[in-house]
This record gives sequence, structure tokens and C-alpha cells, in this order.
Amino acid sequence: MTVPSKPKAPPAWLIDGIGRVRSVLTDASRAAVPPNIVLLEMAQGAWLTQALYIAAELGIADALRDGPRTADDVAQLVDAKPDATYRVMRALAANGVLTLRRDGRFALTRVGQALRSDHEGSMAPMIKLVGRAEHWEHWSRLMHSVRTGQTAVEALRGMSAWDYLESNPEYAAVFNDAMTGVSAVAIETAVPLYDFADRKLVVDVGGGHGALLAKILTQTPTARGVLFDLPTVVEGARPILAAAGVADRCTVEDGSFFDSVPDGADAYVMKTVIHDWDDEEAVAILRNVRTAIADGGKLLLFEMVLPEGAPPHPGMLLDLEMLVHAGGRERTAREYADLLARGGFRLKRVIATPGPMSIVEALPA
Ligand SMILES: C[S@@+](CC[C@H](N)C(=O)[O-])C[C@H]1O[C@@H](n2cnc3c(N)ncnc32)[C@H](O)[C@@H]1O
Repeated sequence: MTVPSKPKAPPAWLIDGIGRVRSVLTDASRAAVPPNIVLLEMAQGAWLTQALYIAAELGIADALRDGPRTADDVAQLVDAKPDATYRVMRALAANGVLTLRRDGRFALTRVGQALRSDHEGSMAPMIKLVGRAEHWEHWSRLMHSVRTGQTAVEALRGMSAWDYLESNPEYAAVFNDAMTGVSAVAIETAVPLYDFADRKLVVDVGGGHGALLAKILTQTPTARGVLFDLPTVVEGARPILAAAGVADRCTVEDGSFFDSVPDGADAYVMKTVIHDWDDEEAVAILRNVRTAIADGGKLLLFEMVLPEGAPPHPGMLLDLEMLVHAGGRERTAREYADLLARGGFRLKRVIATPGPMSIVEALPA
């Protein structure tokens, strides 16, 4: 077994530069259209979300995996009405997800390929969550959250997002698959940028089904791992750890990170966990990690670190998702530094990745 050589991060200027070019191109394209039309197009994003949801949930993208098909063919395959299927597929073609060919058949574009359930880094699981009725209902109460500060989930369901997931196993399965699905994106772009080679034991706190930990352990054949999450969540982790060939180097523990976290590791990772919680709760989790961490240990948060100000960044909308659902928030590097200090850590650096996720590296203070 060979230990991979030290991975190199792409330069931050390149990542920043691509972001700036995209932002300039978006501004230029908007400048070519009257402002009220720009707003209408933005508002129609909600409709596009539902069209994408239909394509993911019914398996329209999967039906096009082996090549172009007519909407009639697809409708038969996915058990839907031909005319309505055609209209959804045409709308997706108009938005760059499919193409409508001269022979009347639809094909997947490069973007549409990422809707296939078997695509590496498929966005289908996340879209199945975002378009699902429960999620949609929660977003319909953003007004309540803005007026009161209470999450829409609390208002609608009378319980926290996590209790709601526990009470609704079908929705929980969709949620956990979505987390694993978006993890694939973070995994591809972020994990190779961090060298875990000198770490002996990696604990993934709130690790879901273990996709992140599986990748870290694959990249670091000398390390062992512990996956830690709520009991009903870790139940689903074994197949992912086994498929990655790391099950024999990984134990699975359940419990609440508000009580304690597995003890004595030299690396603790948390991906999109701290953003779920308000400052007080986040500090409580960090303090439990501080209590558990071994001398010389490192804490790595995989989060969308917000830039200062309000430049375009996907974390700005994810922040609203936190407002509606979990009651947490997205944070800037400065806010992470403050939070980490309150939790007994010192922020060492923020590693940018080619995706929206950053790695926040912290050491015990
Ligand atoms: C946004 S998900 C992220 C999951 C995973 N880290 C990933 O990125 O795919 C947050 C995770 O925190 C877990 N969680 C919530 N409350 C918890 C608690 N009290 N103790 C342990 N884990 C908890 C959830 O079950 C969920 O898996």
C-alpha cells in the first residue's frame, strides 16, 4: 500500500479569479435584460426547482442515460403523462439541462448528466430533498422565521429539525441521501487538499452515513476512523464504509455530541455540522470536542465559509436554509475564529477549495 504524496491545493488566486469572472459574466448578462425581467427570472427559479425535482424523482435523467429518447418514450418508462412529461422536459431543455434535437428526441447536456443517479457526484439526491413537499412546506414559512427568528420546522412541526427527521423515517432517508450526495462534491474537491498522513485516528462527528470519513480513510491507509452520529443515522453507514473498503479500519459509535464525542483522536472532522447550530449550541459542541481531543490533535471543519460583505456565494442562500430548518447559520472566517476561541480552539487557517466548501483548520488553544 502506498501513502499518497502530499496533496497540493490549487492557488487561492485561481479560485477567486474564476469566481470573479463568473460574477462579471452574470452581471453582463443581467445588464442585457430589463430589471423587472431579471427579477421574474429569479422568481421562476422556484419553478425550475420543481422541474428538476420531477426529473430526479421520476428518473427522467436516468431514462436518457443510454442516449436520446422522445418524451413519449420517457413518459412510458417513468409512468407519467406524455404531454406533461414533454412540457417538463422542454422547460429543462430551455434551461440547459436537456437538449431537444431536430429529430424530436431529448438528450442530457453536460449539466443534465449530473442529474443521473449513477453519476459520480450526482446532484439527484440533493434535488430530491430540495424539491420534496416537506422541504417546500418549510420554505413556504421563511416569512415566519424572518418575523420571529423561530425555524419554520419548529413552527410547522412543533419540534426541531432533528426530532422531525427522527419522527419521519422516509424524509430522513431522503435527507441522509442528500447529505451523502453533496458530500461527494465536497469530498472530490476538498479532501484531497488536506494531508491526513500524520493522523492516526480520525473521528467524524455528526458524520451522517460516513462518506467523508470513507474518503479520508481511503486517502490515508495508515489511519483508523470513528464515525459518530445519532443512533438512527449511523444505522445506514455500514454499506458506504464497506463499499469504500474501510470498514475494518472504522468503528461506528452513536450518541449526541451535546453529551460527549469519542475520545482521544488526533483529528476531528465535522462537515456541515457547526453551521446547523446557533452560537451557544455550536460552542457547546466545540467544547466537547476540545475535551476529547488528544495532545497535538487537529480540528477540521468542512463548511462554506462566507466571504465578508455580500459577493455572490452559494453560502448566502444556504444561510437561509439554516434559518428555515436547523436554526443555525453560515459564518465568515472571522466569525469562525470567534466561535472556535469560545470553544477552546485557535483558528490556524482556512483552506479554500475549488468548490464552495472550505476547510477550517483549528488547533487546541
Ligand atoms: C447537515 S448533516 C451533515 C452530515 C455529514 N457530516 C455530511 O456532511 O454529510 C448534520 C449531521 O449532524 C447530525 N446530528 C444532529 N444532531 C446531532 C447530535 N445531537 N449528535 C450527533 N449528531 C447529530 C445529524 O444526524 C446529521 O447527520
